[in-house]
Amino acid sequence: MAYLTTQAGQPVLILKEGTRRRRGRDAQRNNFMAARIISEVLRSTLGPRGMDKMLIDSLGDITITNDGAAILDEIDVEHPAAKMMVEIAKTQDDMVGDGTTTAVVFAGELLRRAEELLDQNIHPTVVVSGYRKASQKAMEAFKELGISVDLDDRETLKRVAITAMTSKAVGTARNHLAEIAIDAVKQITEERGGRKVADIDNIQIIKKEGKSLLDTELVKGIIVDKEIVHPGMPKRVETAKIALLDSPLEVEKTEFDAEIRIRDPTQMKAFLNKETRMLKEMVDKIKASGANVLLCQKGIDDIAQHFMAKKGILATRRVKQSDMEKLARATGGKIVTNLEDLEPEDLGEAGMVEERKVGEDKMIFVEECKHPRSVTILIRAGLERMVDEAERAMHDALSVIADVVEHNKIVPGGGAIESELAKVIRPYATKVGGREQLAIEAFADSIEVVPRTLAENAGLEPIDILVGLRSAHEKPKGHLMGVDVFTGKILDMYEKGVIEPLRVKEQAVKSATESASMILRIDDVIAATKPKEEEPGEMPEY
Ligand SMILES: Nc1ncnc2c1ncn2[C@@H]1O[C@H](COP(=O)(O)OP(=O)(O)O)[C@@H](O)[C@H]1O
Ligand SMILES: [Mg+2]
Repeated sequence: MAYLTTQAGQPVLILKEGTRRRRGRDAQRNNFMAARIISEVLRSTLGPRGMDKMLIDSLGDITITNDGAAILDEIDVEHPAAKMMVEIAKTQDDMVGDGTTTAVVFAGELLRRAEELLDQNIHPTVVVSGYRKASQKAMEAFKELGISVDLDDRETLKRVAITAMTSKAVGTARNHLAEIAIDAVKQITEERGGRKVADIDNIQIIKKEGKSLLDTELVKGIIVDKEIVHPGMPKRVETAKIALLDSPLEVEKTEFDAEIRIRDPTQMKAFLNKETRMLKEMVDKIKASGANVLLCQKGIDDIAQHFMAKKGILATRRVKQSDMEKLARATGGKIVTNLEDLEPEDLGEAGMVEERKVGEDKMIFVEECKHPRSVTILIRAGLERMVDEAERAMHDALSVIADVVEHNKIVPGGGAIESELAKVIRPYATKVGGREQLAIEAFADSIEVVPRTLAENAGLEPIDILVGLRSAHEKPKGHLMGVDVFTGKILDMYEKGVIEPLRVKEQAVKSATESASMILRIDDVIAATKPKEEEPGEMPEY
C-alpha cells in the first residue's frame, strides 16, 4: 500500500513502511459507516420519549442519561470519522449548550443519503456543494421563522427552559428548576457595547445529595465546600472583609534534618515560643489589614487557628483554586501570595459570610457580594444519580435561557421547524436544478429525521406523522405545527409551549452540514503506524 507506481511500472516507495492507506469508495464507505454508527447510538435518545443509555466507565462508575453530549463524552471512540461526530456534539455543547443529539443525528442522516447519491455516481463535490446551498437556504429561512421574545416575558423563558429539560429525568421539579435557571441567568446578564451577554460560566453549580430536587436553591453569592477550621471562630460574619491568601499559614519546617539539642526545659520553651511567635505575627498581620474572614488556599497551622479564633476571624483552609478565583471576582478582593504584601485594599467584601449545614456537611456561604453578578445554584436530590441528572438538566436550561437572552429569538420544537425547513428547501432544489438538485432534496429529506425520530421514539408511526406534518405545513400558520410526542397529535407547538432557541437550531444545522461535508470530501485515509520502540544500537534505515 505504501507504494506508488511510475509510468514505467516501477514502484516508488514514498510512505514509511507499515503505513495503512485506504482510498476512494473504500475509504468513504468506511468513514460513513463509522460516523453513522455514532449517530445510530444517539438516535434512540432523541426527544422527551427517548430512551436512556447506561454507561460504565473503566472504573466501573455508572451513568444513566440520554444527554447526547454526556454519552459521547463517556464513550471512547477510535475511528477518526467517528471522532469527528463526537466533535460535532462538543462544538454544539460549547456554543449553545443544547441540541447535541439533533446535530449528530442530522449529520448521520446527511451521510446516509449522501451514500445513496454516490451510489448513483454523483460526485462527492456535487453533494457537498448541494448541501452547502441547502444549508445557506436554511439560514435564510431561519431569519424569517425566528419569533422575537420580550425578555420580561418570564412565561416564555420558562417554556424554553422546560422544553430543554423535558427529556431529562427531573420530573415535576422541572418548573422549580426552570424558575431558578431564569433567575440565575438574569442575575449574570450584563450589557456590553449595547448587547446583552449572559456567560453562564459565571454561575457556580454545587451538588449535594440529600433532600429533594425541590430544595434546589439559588444563592446570590459563592459557596465554598469547606468547614470553618476552628470551633472557637464565629460561624457568621456580617460586613465581611475577606483576605484571600494563596500561601500556607504555617511556619516552614527546615528542609534538612536539623538536630537541635535541648538541654533544659527553658530552651525547649524558647524554641517553641519562636514558632508560636511567628504564627502570632502572621495572624496579627491579617488582623491589621482589617480582615475578619480568611479564605486560604493552603494549610493553616493549629496554633494560627487558635489565634484567629481569639481575634474573632472566621477562617477556612484548602479552598480550591477555581473557587478562589470566583471568590476574588465576586468579592472584589485580590488573591495574595505573600502574607507580607497583604494590604487593606486587597480585601474582598461581602454582606455576609456564614457556615451552614447542607445535608451531612457544612459549607461556607459568601453572600451579598460586592459584585452582584455572582450566583450559585445548589442542586439537591435524594440520590447521587439524580443530582447528576439534575445538573445536566440545569446546564441545558441555563444554556437555552442564555441563548434566548443573547439572541432574542425562538422557534417551535417538536419537529415543527425542521418540517418547515424541508418545505422551504424542496422547491429551492427544483430551482437550482441539475445534479445538485438531488443533493438539495436529500438535505430536505435528511432534516426530517428530527420529526421522524421523535415519532419513532414515541412509538408512533413515523410515516403517518411525516405525511401529517407535510400537509399541516401547507396550511396557514402551518409553520408552527409539530408532533406532540405525548398524544401523537399534530399541534401548534408555539401554542403548546414547546419552543427552543433559534440559535440551537441554527448551530445544529451549521455544524452537522460542515462535518458531513468534511467527511464527504475525504477519499484517502493515510494512517501512520504507531511508533515502535527502537531496538537499541540499531541504526534507522532510510
Ligand atoms: N413536549 C414535546 N413534544 C415534542 N417534542 C419535544 C417536546 N419537548 C421537546 N421536544 C423535542 O425534543 C428534541 C430535543 O430532544 P433532546 O433529547 O433534548 O435532544 P438534543 O440533545 O438534540 O437537545 C427537540 O427537537 C425538541 O423540540
Ligand atoms: Mg436537549
